Amino acid sequence: MTTTTDARAGIVLSRLAKSYGAVRAVRNVDLVIAPGETVALLGPNGAGKTTTIEMMLGLTKPDSGTVSIFGAPPAAARQAGWFGAMLQTGSPLDHLRVREIITLMASYYPHPLPVSDVLRLTGADEFASQMTTKLSGGQVQRVRFAAAIVGDPDLLVLDEPTAGIDVEGRRDFWQAMRAMTEHGKTVLFATHYLEEADAHADRIVLLAHGRIVADGPATEIKAQAGSRTIRATLPGVDVAALGALPGVRTAARHGDAVTLSCSNADAALPALLGAFPWARDIEVTGGTLEEAFLELTASEPTARAQTMEATR
Ligand SMILES: Nc1ncnc2c1ncn2[C@@H]1O[C@H](COP(=O)(O)OP(=O)(O)O)[C@@H](O)[C@H]1O
Ligand SMILES: [Mg+2]
Repeated sequence: MTTTTDARAGIVLSRLAKSYGAVRAVRNVDLVIAPGETVALLGPNGAGKTTTIEMMLGLTKPDSGTVSIFGAPPAAARQAGWFGAMLQTGSPLDHLRVREIITLMASYYPHPLPVSDVLRLTGADEFASQMTTKLSGGQVQRVRFAAAIVGDPDLLVLDEPTAGIDVEGRRDFWQAMRAMTEHGKTVLFATHYLEEADAHADRIVLLAHGRIVADGPATEIKAQAGSRTIRATLPGVDVAALGALPGVRTAARHGDAVTLSCSNADAALPALLGAFPWARDIEVTGGTLEEAFLELTASEPTARAQTMEATR
């Protein structure tokens, strides 16, 4: 087994898929994360974030597809202490004090951080001599975070790390995260909070119904999310022709009704009317961030997701 990370390799998920009975939790996800990137896996509940993360860490066996962490399979990466994780399930060991459990975790890693530094950074020093059974929800999250970082891993994987924490606690958490990840760590965190992904990730991977429906820098996703939509009654026109119009990002058809999601509706509308003057019932709606997030993750697969599916 290799004991040094292949720094250039990053994290590679290839055509990762997992079903639970009839539920296709993750559908052929392809994702490459470069070393040093902070990536948000954003999506509503049930999108497949946890399943993706569990497969990535080797905790759930994929139906198909492969995972490579710094050039190694998950089990080897785990054994070598290359990643630290904060998962949604499982609680800190019972009947230990906070300091004891973090000290124990540190002992599993080849080059751990000083326990006292980790306790201070995460704010867990305030209750370091408490038993883990006596902690509040927010305190448990801090202990989990401390356990994830104490090994000083190259990769941090955090599944909804701020779930159940109040606003103030969230701010403290992200501040600690920043301090921790300043020096070239690779981070993947799952969240269903748009603002959290926007504020704390270099890149947002938007997951819906087990598929990646958008992937890019936060600014790009925001622009996409903030886009306007044109709707019209337009029989007999190919969606591909509509999708190719200037200013149109994606096009979808439902019977005679077409929906164009636009990067630039001001360019798209005249182009639409120029090319298809028989378009009727034209409607332009301005999307808010929230609206577009809902649209991108809606139950109806978007034209883009359909296109992506068709190419697989
Ligand atoms: N162990 C399981 N057994 C059955 N269904 C599951 C299991 N884990 C997840 N699912 C289903 O898979 C889908 C994706 O779930 P999950 O990965 O937990 O999503 P997220 O973390 O984005 O909320 C959901 O429909 C969920 O109900
Ligand atoms: Mg989850």
